[in-house]
Amino acid sequence: MDEKQLEAGFQAKVDAEQKIEPKDWMPADYRKNLVRQISQHAHSEIVGMLPEGNWITRAPNLRRKTVLLAKVQDEAGHGLYLYSAAESLGAARADLNDQLLTGKAKYSSIFNYPTLTWADIGAVGWLVDGAAIMNQVMLCRTSYGPYARAMVRICKEESFHQRQGYEIMCVLAKGTPEQREMAQDALDRWWWPSLMMFGPSDANSPHSAQSMKWKIKRQSNDELRQTFIDRTVPQADFLGLRIPDDKLKWNEATKHYDWGEIDWTEFNEILKGNGPCNKERLEARNKAHDEGRWVREAALAHAAKQAKKQAA
Ligand code: 3HC
Repeated sequence: MDEKQLEAGFQAKVDAEQKIEPKDWMPADYRKNLVRQISQHAHSEIVGMLPEGNWITRAPNLRRKTVLLAKVQDEAGHGLYLYSAAESLGAARADLNDQLLTGKAKYSSIFNYPTLTWADIGAVGWLVDGAAIMNQVMLCRTSYGPYARAMVRICKEESFHQRQGYEIMCVLAKGTPEQREMAQDALDRWWWPSLMMFGPSDANSPHSAQSMKWKIKRQSNDELRQTFIDRTVPQADFLGLRIPDDKLKWNEATKHYDWGEIDWTEFNEILKGNGPCNKERLEARNKAHDEGRWVREAALAHAAKQAKKQAA
């Protein structure tokens, strides 16, 4: 079959809700788009460990410490699943890692904000993992098989992440005045950056149209963002905390919340590497990579020795 016929056959499979598997024929751009998105998703998981890891040694008690340890370890596992999904498309993990370490590849803008107080750990679990779940539940239905299957497992763990964060916020919001204030301060700082996680507005999203046609994306950036807002505002009401958006108001006619406007300049500055923690995050990842060199070398040497023994 010629390229046109192959493309038609591929699109028919996608339209018939058949999963595309690694060995199936796929347009080069489908593969390229998926390696881009999946690898950046994986980078987000790995870099996402840093802001929370910052509080493991300072958690207020042993229970909080063990829960946070478990969450951060989960994120590492999510990253490894996603790198494996990217490898099933022919991408080399070393190349993907290099793209992150040299600043060529993106990771989610949200991880370039500092975690200043313990309440931030609550807000990150509640809002950041809450936003990630919106997006990742949708990705359980993505057309690429290995990505969709990785999402099913990740979403199960993500809901524990969101719940533990919201529980921290409940305890603080119902605690002493200082604790309430700390919770409100965290919500003030994490609300708008969490909305940016869903990406640019649909009108400014270069990948969305094609990703929707190939069913990589099943809902648009703005649609998911609106669902997140509609679900999260009542949770903030329950906490008795105020969402930092004067334009936020329930619209009975649309059955959605009307809300203000994201500061896209801030978003674009972060994507350019000019966020509060961009430099620190890349330095931390490069330091970890350098310090881990001996482990990689030892593992490769052992594998080579084993292979030689088997060949003999
Ligand atoms: N941060 C950084 N870059 C972003 C971004 C964000 N919040 N939103 C969009 N971008 C980038 C895109 O990567 C793309 O740049 P590129 O062409 O260099 O890759 C550009 O902005 C245009 O955006 P589009 O909307 O056109 O791009 P996509 O169609 O890829 O949509 C997305 C963006 C919705 C983030 C999509 O890539 C996606 O669903 N990714 C998978 C989910 C993901 O990565 N989530 C990040 C958080 S993971 C997480 O939070 C872990 C949890 O455990 C805490």
